[in-house]
Amino acid sequence: MDKGLMQKAEPGSIDMGVFNHCDILEEGRVLALVTPQGERVRFHAVWLRDNAPDDKTRSAQNGQKLITLSDIPENVSLKNVELHADGIRITFSPEDKSVFFDPAWLLDNRYDTKPAQSDRKTWDSELSATIPVGRYPEICHQEEALRDWLSHIRTYGFAKLTGGPKKPQALLDVIGLFGFVRETNYGKWFEVRTEVNPVNLAFTGLGLQAHTDNPYRDPVPTLQLLYCLENSVDGGDSILVDGFRAIERLKEERPTYFDLLSGYNARFVYEGADGVCLHSQRPMIETGPDGEVIGIRFNNRSCAPLVDVPFDRMQDYYAAYRYLSGLIDDPSMAVSFSLGPGECFLVDNTRILHARRSFSGSGSRWLQGCYADRDGLLSKLAVLEKTQGRN
Ligand code: OGA
Ligand code: ZN
Repeated sequence: MDKGLMQKAEPGSIDMGVFNHCDILEEGRVLALVTPQGERVRFHAVWLRDNAPDDKTRSAQNGQKLITLSDIPENVSLKNVELHADGIRITFSPEDKSVFFDPAWLLDNRYDTKPAQSDRKTWDSELSATIPVGRYPEICHQEEALRDWLSHIRTYGFAKLTGGPKKPQALLDVIGLFGFVRETNYGKWFEVRTEVNPVNLAFTGLGLQAHTDNPYRDPVPTLQLLYCLENSVDGGDSILVDGFRAIERLKEERPTYFDLLSGYNARFVYEGADGVCLHSQRPMIETGPDGEVIGIRFNNRSCAPLVDVPFDRMQDYYAAYRYLSGLIDDPSMAVSFSLGPGECFLVDNTRILHARRSFSGSGSRWLQGCYADRDGLLSKLAVLEKTQGRN
């Protein structure tokens, strides 16, 4: 217990729902709130002041913050805290400013002890029996169906769509259901069909190893849609691999390989068309501040000479790259399906690798592809979940 100020809630004014006890600690710099179950959740005075929900701090119209950090006195502290049934009243010193906080909001935004929360489920070939799929007519007309389809992409990193129109550019309508196309040098969308002088190996009948698209961009497009308009060839099945599951295995089976692929930049390049000279310098495995995996770039076709790995680590780096490549090619990691006309799939291009089996010259295979971004998708999903609840 700190020697500083201490405020106990008046028994009559206790909000038994969320917190029923509070202490001011560390000379007013920290507030400790205690739940009826005995869990203690602490907040710093500066954090509380910065996040005050009053309309001088945050715009009531658009929720954006109206102050900068320099508007908060450096010596901000808690002068008084009262628990009431309808909120927690906090008075800050030296401003002598009182603000009501919603206890449920505080609990939702706690950073003291945070339950791990992720909607992500990594997967391998066992997902084959239950590939996430939506029906185009339903996701166009029923918001619940759209919510479910978008939430599959958040959870599994991909989803298929069936029953779509068999007409060129229908892929743009799919993107329009949740966001915006990311236009690139390939155009708003691109044709994936066999070409005589292809600017990209995707436009041939060759098989393609599982890859993420456009690792030579920075940032990469975070979503990719491939939409089938014709398919009467032998082969050409689509294959998907969860790159994050492959990385989980890498970390477990060869931790030093994980360190190499996340610790050194790779280089990627595309200069396959006139006027285009795209280069990036990023690790194949991208990690966040806690070491958590936030993205994968894997595309041997677009790999430039690796020059950021020190000489005495290069041999091991290649061993690590080979090992990850082996995990990605392991059939037990993949789901596969063939796309018929009017069918498509959408992938999170920072997580899911897509591949294609080779196909023969007879018959025709015509896909259209385009890129988009995940922020728009997650925004649409969050709005749908606000109005309909989560599934
Ligand atoms: C692509 C690609 C796969 C396919 O165009 O990016 O990977 O099924 N195509 O043709
Ligand atoms: Zn591709």
